[in-house]
Amino acid sequence: MPQNRAFPELPDSPAWQALARHRDALAGTRTLDLFAADPGRFDALALTLDTDEGPFLLDPSKNRMTAETFDLLCALADEVNLAGAIQAMFAGVAINETENRAAFHVALRHLSGKPLPSGGVDVMPEVRKVLDKITGFVSAVRGGVWLGATGRAVTDVVNIGIGGSDLGPAMVVEALGPYGREGLSAHFVSNVDATHMMRVLKRLDPETTLFIVTSKTFTTQETLRNARTAREWLVKALGEAAVAKHFVAVSTNAAEVAKFGIDTVNMFGFWDWVGGRYSLWSAVGLSIALAVGMDTFVGLLKGGFAMDEHFRSAPFADNLPVALALVGIWNGTILGAPCHAVLPYDQSLARFPAFLQQLEMESNGKGVTLAGLPVPTATAPVLFGEPGTNGQHSFYQMLHQGTLPVPADFVVVARSHHEVADHQPMLLANALAQTEALMRGRTAAEAEAEMRAKGMDAAKAKALAPHRAFPGDRPSTTILIPRLTPETLGMLIALYEHKVYVQSVIWGINAFDQWGVELGKTLASAILPELTSDAPPEGHDGSTAALIDLVRALRGEESAGA
Ligand code: F6P
Repeated sequence: MPQNRAFPELPDSPAWQALARHRDALAGTRTLDLFAADPGRFDALALTLDTDEGPFLLDPSKNRMTAETFDLLCALADEVNLAGAIQAMFAGVAINETENRAAFHVALRHLSGKPLPSGGVDVMPEVRKVLDKITGFVSAVRGGVWLGATGRAVTDVVNIGIGGSDLGPAMVVEALGPYGREGLSAHFVSNVDATHMMRVLKRLDPETTLFIVTSKTFTTQETLRNARTAREWLVKALGEAAVAKHFVAVSTNAAEVAKFGIDTVNMFGFWDWVGGRYSLWSAVGLSIALAVGMDTFVGLLKGGFAMDEHFRSAPFADNLPVALALVGIWNGTILGAPCHAVLPYDQSLARFPAFLQQLEMESNGKGVTLAGLPVPTATAPVLFGEPGTNGQHSFYQMLHQGTLPVPADFVVVARSHHEVADHQPMLLANALAQTEALMRGRTAAEAEAEMRAKGMDAAKAKALAPHRAFPGDRPSTTILIPRLTPETLGMLIALYEHKVYVQSVIWGINAFDQWGVELGKTLASAILPELTSDAPPEGHDGSTAALIDLVRALRGEESAGA
């Protein structure tokens, strides 16, 4: 971390204060020194979970933390009764307190065959019923039994949804590309900007296209607008009667699905205890199952389940989601880093940072505690990322030499589905080199000596040295995955889901509501009719009123000229 930054004040409890003292004591220590002092540091701090492909590993050792740091963070976890919170999650307790419902996504991948009750009712029979319905539908579509209105098999599936009804499935379909089947492509339309829909429709044949309208509430403005546009496109080509064979829905709201004109026989349900950003494991994953097959989808569930079993049973000291969460608390809340980068070294995970933006920032971007009081610490950092090596040629400059500290997770995949020439070793070398460079840095004296050794004159080398020096000691965590399979991907996603929950418990906030998205939606509904009205806009600030006027004028000119 860049030095000279004021550390944030921490709450007045024994565990937070012990961490504050420990932070002060460690302030002058560099992570590299911790390695020098303890040759067993990696073995002591790295955690693994076995998979069929080899160990799934979490290496937090390149963070400025010691075994004592973890002990103190575990004491903080004890102080907030994390164990009780984990138990409550798996017991289907209404941990989403502001909406008075469970956050029970673990039930969606609970493959033990045993009951899993919430509020005294075993939810598994319902979960299995929907899974069976998905299985039947996927087999019918992929097997050419479900045919379009003109008797042709489905070649393209379009998921229409937004937020959690888009990001998870879109990310997974891309990540599991190697498991996809020739002849069936999945597309995702989310943005209400018609460009998104038109770009997709342009490539499709209505006779062989199946639309999945995915919306938990089935009231989301963007999704309904997009679904209506798709419906109009289809009806124009094939007539009204074709809708039944080309539209299915995924929702918790049967009444609205029927109102839209989709037969609820072709609706795949889920439940209010599945949060949007945790829903890819439910029927929301229908596009995944269609794109990669049911076996692969079940493999994903298996991976999630494996991580769940680990999370609920492993002691905190050996627990991967807990460790990942605690590293985040240390770097963000305790040392004050405002940002967090997630850097997947696998092109298949290109959408993983976008998925995590919603998972982490919509879950934990909160400012009040469960008791409705201001949170006394920083909560979710700004999360961003791009696949390596692209990010290296974009924003890594700032990671290495910028003034804001940016702790990073490097998600590294050892074996590629495309072992072509030496691409994969090159990719891996870059990943490992970046983590090493971020920690090690390079002093101005080293930079100067290097330039002199290459023959640069002394004055120039001295002048350039500060520019070519790296402060180092920039924290990173490496997640090393043997190969990206349905199982290891499921583990990775569940790892971050549980990380988010652990952090919410430590911050005392609700990870499962999202009231912060409401105000903008309400104001947009008010502005929408004003954009096409002649009446002066009312009730707005000067900027918004002027912009409404200007947009009206610009659009008027545009249609007048068209
Ligand atoms: O943006 C708010 C939000 O409610 C997200 O939490 C959710 O994933 C998204 O909208 C879509 O909601 P729905 O699935 O109900 O259309």
